[in-house]
Amino acid sequence: MKIDFINLQAQYQKYKIDIDKQIQEVLDSSAYIGGKVTKLEEKLNSFVGCKHSIACSSGTDALILSLMAVGLQPDDEVITTAFTFIATAEAIAFLKAKPVFVDIDGKTFNIDSSKIEEKITNKTKVILPVSLFGQISNMDEINNIAKKHQLIVIEDGAQSFGASYNNKISGNLCDIGTTSFFPAKPLGCYGDGGAIFTNDDKIAQKLRVLLNHGQTAKYIHSDIGINGRLDAIQAAVLIAKLDYYQDEIDKRDKIASRYTKELKTVKTPIVLNGLRSVWAQYSVLSDDRDKLMKRCQNKGVPTAVYYPIPLHLQKVFSYLGYKDGDLPKTEKISKEIFSLPISAFLKDDEQSYIIEVLNNG
Ligand SMILES: Cc1ncc(COP(=O)(O)O)c(C=O)c1O
Repeated sequence: MKIDFINLQAQYQKYKIDIDKQIQEVLDSSAYIGGKVTKLEEKLNSFVGCKHSIACSSGTDALILSLMAVGLQPDDEVITTAFTFIATAEAIAFLKAKPVFVDIDGKTFNIDSSKIEEKITNKTKVILPVSLFGQISNMDEINNIAKKHQLIVIEDGAQSFGASYNNKISGNLCDIGTTSFFPAKPLGCYGDGGAIFTNDDKIAQKLRVLLNHGQTAKYIHSDIGINGRLDAIQAAVLIAKLDYYQDEIDKRDKIASRYTKELKTVKTPIVLNGLRSVWAQYSVLSDDRDKLMKRCQNKGVPTAVYYPIPLHLQKVFSYLGYKDGDLPKTEKISKEIFSLPISAFLKDDEQSYIIEVLNNG
């Protein structure tokens, strides 16, 4: 059996009529910039339940723009996790601020909120939790800490669009939420894309200026910004796919539940009470990872490691002075974790085969 890690082609074939129609409308209108982006933003508002959704060029730019919008300055500190994709800390460092890494919770792989307060200094400006693999961090506690110390909270929800936390949706849980529509993300477009969510009118207005070259009116510029716009063809793809997304989340959740029930040789992921993951990744732990991954490879089951080297040990962040042993849980989990195929299009017999390969070889 040959299994895809994510089957984007099956997804396209299923929604082809809607996606093609949406794209054709962009081509017929010649509105390649703007145009359907407004419609997408309206749909995102109602999906996320927030006041402002601002579509942008990628999940990375969503983070950079959010940090710019809250006025992050060089040497400010941003508390985050080292167990994430590089973009999280890269956005902070790109603006010449300092990422401050906190260890993770061994159950959820997300930032350990009980360890945040000890890292707060008079330079701390933002707490930036990542909703890793589709599960939101302990936002109640993070928001409480932020309130106490007058900090801003930005959720990196690149992997968690549609996830929920006590019935609130990722992106609508703190000052600003970001997401990514990279093709392999739970909701992906057909190139790069992202979005920023907020209920704050001033931040929203600032974000709109920043993502369009700091422009407040045609050729009138108040800020140094970037070209961070989403293009209309990507918006068209997302408009079509968004209608099917809740159903996809339900299907992903069903597959994850089956894996969790039936997998025997690995430690399966935990979703805390009141939370719903969108399963950007279904990640398991094993102290015999290499052997299990090799077995999967030999039997045609693709697997991947997110993330083999935590950010505090990456060469690019050596100037921050972290060393092996500083974040013990992050380091241990990065040596044991690997992810299995998951998507709404993973068939029942494929799921059975993956479970069989892992359980019995
Ligand atoms: C946690 C996290 N943050 C940020 C990003 C960046 O998103 P993008 O690839 O759309 O720039 C990603 C995606 O790759 C991610 O997984």
